Amino acid sequence: MSFFTKSPSPASLRDVEPQPIVGPLISMRNVEKVFETAAGRTYVLRRITADIQAGEFVSIMGPSGAGKSTLLAILGMLDSAWSGEFFFVGHPVHAMAHKQRVALNKEHIGFVFQQYHLIDDLTVAENLDIPLSYRNVKKSEREAIVADTLDRFGMVGKKDLYPRQLSGGQQQLVGVARAVIAKPKLILADEPTGNLHSSQGREIMELFKKLNDQGTTIIQVTHSEENAKFGHRIIELKDGWITA
Ligand SMILES: Nc1ncnc2c1ncn2[C@@H]1O[C@H](COP(=O)(O)OP(=O)(O)O)[C@@H](O)[C@H]1O
Ligand SMILES: [Mg+2]
Repeated sequence: MSFFTKSPSPASLRDVEPQPIVGPLISMRNVEKVFETAAGRTYVLRRITADIQAGEFVSIMGPSGAGKSTLLAILGMLDSAWSGEFFFVGHPVHAMAHKQRVALNKEHIGFVFQQYHLIDDLTVAENLDIPLSYRNVKKSEREAIVADTLDRFGMVGKKDLYPRQLSGGQQQLVGVARAVIAKPKLILADEPTGNLHSSQGREIMELFKKLNDQGTTIIQVTHSEENAKFGHRIIELKDGWITA
C-alpha cells in the first residue's frame, strides 16, 4: 500500500455518477414483480415498459392493489427482487450490486413513503438532517438548512419532538420535508397528501410544482384528480399492467 492509495469512496459512488448521457432519466423495459405465496404465484407488475424524461412531473394512478407502491419502491431502488431492465440516467440498475443502488438512491432520490417511515428514536430535526448527512455539507450549514426547512413547513415548534408525538398529518409533512431537503434530482412520493388537510395538500402540490419548475423530476402516486393536474401526464396501472 502506498501513501497515495485512497480509501475507496463509500459504496463506489464514482461508478454510478451520471455521465452527460442524452436520454431518459428513467427507462424501464419489461419490469416484472412476482410474489410466491402458498396460493401460488401472484404477479404484481407485468411487463412494465416506460420512459420518464428528466424534468417531467408524472402521476401514477390506479385502484388499490394495482401495484403503484411496488413500482415506486423499484424506481426508488428500495426493492431488488424483480426482473427486467431499469436504467437510471443510462446506468443499468438491474445489474447493480445492492451497495451501488443504495448509493444512487442516497445521492439522487428523495422518497415520500405512504406510511411515513420516520426514524422513531430521532427527533423531527434529526430526521430532517439524515439526507443532508449523505451529502458533503458542513454541520453548521446542515443546521441552517434544517432550520430553514422547519420554518418553511411551519414545524419549528415541533423540531425536538419524536415521530410518535406527532399526528399522522404532521408525520407526513416531516416525510415530505425529508424528501425535499437535500434537493434530490428525483422525488418519488407515494400518496404524499393522503393524510393532510386539503389546504396543506395543496401547499405540498404547489411546492412540488415549484421544484419541478426548477428542474426536479417528480413521480407521485395519487388517487386525487386534483393532485394529478399539477403534473404533466398520468400513468394508469391496473392489476400490474400499464393501461394508459
Ligand atoms: N409481500 C407480499 N406478498 C404477496 N403479495 C403482496 C405482497 N406485498 C404486496 N402484495 C400484493 O401486491 C399487489 C400490489 O400492491 P401495492 O403495490 O401495494 O398496490 P397499490 O400501491 O397500488 O395499492 C397487491 O395485490 C398486494 O396484495
Ligand atoms: Mg400503495
